[in-house]
Amino acid sequence: MTVTFPDRLELAWRDTPIQPLPALSEALGKSIRVWRDDLTGWALSGNKIRKLEFLCAEARAVGANHLVTCGGPQSNHARATAFAARNLGWDITIVVREPPGGFDHTDMPNGNLLLNRILGANLVFIPFDEYREQGSVYEPFLEATANRLYQQGARPFMVPEGGSCAMGCWGYLAAVREKRELLPEGEFDLFCAVGSGGTLAGLQLGAETFKPGCRVHGVNVCDTADHFKHRAGRLLHDFSTAFPDSGVRPSTAELNIHDGFVGEGYALAQDEDLRFYAELARDTGMLLDPVYTGKAFRGMAQLLKTRPQDFSDEIVFLHSGGQFASFAFAEQYQRALG
Ligand SMILES: Cc1ncc(COP(=O)(O)O)c(C=O)c1O
Repeated sequence: MTVTFPDRLELAWRDTPIQPLPALSEALGKSIRVWRDDLTGWALSGNKIRKLEFLCAEARAVGANHLVTCGGPQSNHARATAFAARNLGWDITIVVREPPGGFDHTDMPNGNLLLNRILGANLVFIPFDEYREQGSVYEPFLEATANRLYQQGARPFMVPEGGSCAMGCWGYLAAVREKRELLPEGEFDLFCAVGSGGTLAGLQLGAETFKPGCRVHGVNVCDTADHFKHRAGRLLHDFSTAFPDSGVRPSTAELNIHDGFVGEGYALAQDEDLRFYAELARDTGMLLDPVYTGKAFRGMAQLLKTRPQDFSDEIVFLHSGGQFASFAFAEQYQRALG
C-alpha cells in the first residue's frame, strides 16, 4: 500500500525496543511484551514526541516561532512540547489547568512542572472552575492566548491537548509502520493508555494500514470508554477529511476501549497501585507512571487474567512514558512503601 506521509522533523529516538516480560508472561500464560516508547528520548520521552514530530513540521512550514499548548500541571505532553520548542529555538507558552481542589503556587515545583520552569516556559494558569465554565475544553483558552501573543508580535502555533488532532495521528500511524518487523507476526493484541485519544487513533490507523493482525485496545485513564470512542472516532473522521489523498482509509469499526480502571480519578493513585509499580520496577527494572501507563498496564493485566479467552496469546503493551510525574507522588510513595 502506498501511503503519502506529511513532512516531519527528527526529534525522537524512534528506534525503541520491544522487550519480553517473562515473569508476567508465565503468570498469565501468554507472551507479554512491552514496546518501550518511554525511551524515545530523555526530556522528549514518551508518546507525545512522535505526534510532535509532525506537528512541529507543520508549525515550521507556516513560519511559527512560538508553540502554545495546554495540560494539567504535570502534563507530559506540555513538557515534551516545551522541550521540542526549545530544541527548535522557539518560545513556548503552556495553558495550565489547575486541579479541581485548586493549586498552591507557593508549593515547590516538581516533576514536569519543574522541567517547564527550568525551560522558562511561559505558564498561564486557569482555575478549574473557569475551565469547567467553558465546557471543560482548552480551545477557548488556547485561542485567547495565541491571539494575545500574535498581537505582541509572536508567530504562535497552537498544539491541542495531548497533540491529539488529525496531524498528531500520524505519529503512531508512522510508528506502527516502523515497528512492523519487531511486532509479532499474525494475530496479536496491542494495549495503550488513553488520555486524549490521539495515540489510540494513530495506532488504529497504523494497524489497519500496516499490521492487519493487530487488534488495538485502549484503557482510559479518565472520563469513560464512551467518551473516548466518540473522541477518537472524531479524530479518525478529522483525519480522513484532512488527508483524503494519503492512501490511509480509516475503517468505521468500533474502537476497543476498556473502562473501569480510572480508580479514584484522573491523576489519583491508591497506595496499592504505587506498591504494584514499585514491585514491577524491582522485578523488571521498568518503571510505569501512576497517571497513564500504570493504570493501563494494571487494566490490561486484569483483563488478561479475567477474560483470557478474549485475547490472543501474543500481547504487546505500549509503554508511553510519563515517569517524571512519579515525582509528584513522592510523599504517597514514601507512605505506601513504608
Ligand atoms: C505517558 C502518557 N501515556 C499515554 C498518554 C495518552 O495518550 P493520548 O493523549 O494520545 O491518549 C499520555 C497523555 O495523555 C501520556 O502522557
